[in-house]
Amino acid sequence: MRIAISTGGGDAPGLNAVIRAIVLSAHTRGWQTYGIRRGYGGLLGNDGIQSLTPQSVRGITHLGGTILGTTNRGNPFRWASKDAAGKEVEVDRSDDLIAAFNASGFDAMIPIGGDGSLKIAYDLGLKGLPVVGVPKTIDNDVCGTLSTFGFDTAVSTATEAIDKLHSTTESHERVMVVELMGRDAGWIALHSGISASADVILLPEIPFDIAKVCDKVMERERDGRHFSVVVVAEGAKPLGGEASMIERRSTGTVDRLGGIASLVAKAITERTGKETRSLVLGHLQRGGSPTTFDRLLALRFGAAAVRAVADHAFGVMVGFAPPEIIRVPLEQVIGRTKHVPLNCDTILTARGLGISLGD
Ligand code: F6P
Repeated sequence: MRIAISTGGGDAPGLNAVIRAIVLSAHTRGWQTYGIRRGYGGLLGNDGIQSLTPQSVRGITHLGGTILGTTNRGNPFRWASKDAAGKEVEVDRSDDLIAAFNASGFDAMIPIGGDGSLKIAYDLGLKGLPVVGVPKTIDNDVCGTLSTFGFDTAVSTATEAIDKLHSTTESHERVMVVELMGRDAGWIALHSGISASADVILLPEIPFDIAKVCDKVMERERDGRHFSVVVVAEGAKPLGGEASMIERRSTGTVDRLGGIASLVAKAITERTGKETRSLVLGHLQRGGSPTTFDRLLALRFGAAAVRAVADHAFGVMVGFAPPEIIRVPLEQVIGRTKHVPLNCDTILTARGLGISLGD
């Protein structure tokens, strides 16, 4: 058996651990593994495929990033190209990709990615490619799995950052607004915000009323707490408003969210007179060494993906349904976002603790 591995979309801590688990589990069966460089791009370029051996994945479990490289602009169905006039266009290169896969003598592909990469995997599966997906994203927004690897590390990083902001915010009696990643799901903001004792947490799932946010700040002021920490997910939106966008992207990828923290900070200053600063934690959340939880989850996903290949169970994604690693048909995963349920225990916990959710 010759297995191809690809890592696509935004990177997440734990990618290297998955790669190592696939390579070693395949090696144990006497199979060979190959890494496709830069998402699926390595199958569409020149020097984009590398042999992966137990030696080449030695000592990488704890390393952030991906040894294969990644891109969020590498959709083979919407490949960025230029037309004769030099204008940017999208072309469908999926047939080229499948031809390159077959020419390389591969028997199975294990793409490790988030919703975008898994949708591509599903579409390639429909065209005959034998795929087993592995869910990856710090956003934790993939359906069919309780957790994606990378999420726990991102939450730890965000929690530590908010902890650090607390002391300076209190010393200066300011309001601090911290913007966290997560796209259209509020998992990172909710979990780190509660853990780091934020006073307000704003999520994409709950459109916020800025008046309610300011009520919380002023209520604390009256209680002699002259500072407040506001955590805002990048995809949060005001009641009746839209999410804040930095860039609308055209070819083969998703728009770039961002800027909500500075808008919220400005509104708080205007309404309360409190000095308010904002901070975007950004890609720090995607970096660093994976936590123990993420390492183990990533290793379990990688090993389970190879078992799925052994069983010829294609068109599936491995998922975490504690205590098991399960197989979920890709069609049940794609095109859906796992949002924070409004009545889940974590939301009830936040409300119970007196944290304002801006509603
Ligand atoms: O999906 C992971 C993620 O980090 C999101 O939280 C964020 O919106 C996006 O990727 C940022 O992508 P990029 O690195 O392309 O700006």
